[in-house]
Amino acid sequence: MKIKLVSEVSIDGKITFGEGTSSKDLFSLLTTEDMEYIHEIRSKADGILVGMNTIRNDNPSLTCRYVEGKNPIRIVPSNSLEIPEDATILNDNIPTIIITPETNKEAAKKYAKYQSVNFVFAGEEKLDFAVAFSKLEKQYNIHTVMLEGGGTLNWNLIDKDMVNEITVIRLPIVIGGKNNISLVDGEGYGNCNLAKKFGLKGVEFRGNVIIGNYVKA
Ligand SMILES: NC(=O)c1ccc[n+]([C@@H]2O[C@H](COP(=O)([O-])OP(=O)(O)OC[C@H]3O[C@@H](n4cnc5c(N)ncnc54)[C@H](OP(=O)(O)O)[C@@H]3O)[C@@H](O)[C@H]2O)c1
Repeated sequence: MKIKLVSEVSIDGKITFGEGTSSKDLFSLLTTEDMEYIHEIRSKADGILVGMNTIRNDNPSLTCRYVEGKNPIRIVPSNSLEIPEDATILNDNIPTIIITPETNKEAAKKYAKYQSVNFVFAGEEKLDFAVAFSKLEKQYNIHTVMLEGGGTLNWNLIDKDMVNEITVIRLPIVIGGKNNISLVDGEGYGNCNLAKKFGLKGVEFRGNVIIGNYVKA
């Protein structure tokens, strides 16, 4: 599975305001051309992966409505299986796959009424991303995934060396706040040897934003 992380970040690397807030506020700083750029990337991916907090806080549709092209299949990991009943991903009839541990097989039945939602079970009690991605490739023909955060999910996948590319769309804004969510949260690394390394592939200046492209070293 090829995974490309794409995210809008502030100058100081934050991806949203206070905990539990929607990053849609940040999106208001993007132009139509910026949105087209992001949706173009979406339209080239087989799947789009976001964390369940992003679903709960932003209620995104994750489509590529700014460009012509097919919507990627939405993929959302969850241990809790607490999905808001009114979430767009449950109700808009665009395919969504929830990846979750085997222990959730019974709990998943309550979502059977949402016809465009499928479950992939991977890992006994904890979600196993390697097993999940292998099943997504074999059962759903998903080989390229655009990862759109948030910070917890980004950490989980970068820490497992599963992210091949990172595209950072840097907005000219400082958010600050020790507890505000960053591009990558989790435990973090204590020194440069442990830190995950990426090589700079290219930089683009687009109006108000700087886009940095990095590949796994
Ligand atoms: N600026 C941007 O481009 C951008 C993009 C995306 C998101 N955001 C912002 O980021 C914020 C959310 O970030 P976040 O760090 O709080 O959460 P997140 O990464 O969106 O979601 C975390 C949740 O995803 C599920 N998950 C993640 N890793 C898992 C694993 N290894 N196994 C099983 N489930 C796993 C869990 O769901 P359960 O709790 O259901 O188990 C976990 O609580 C939102 O407020 C959003 O606005 C910004």
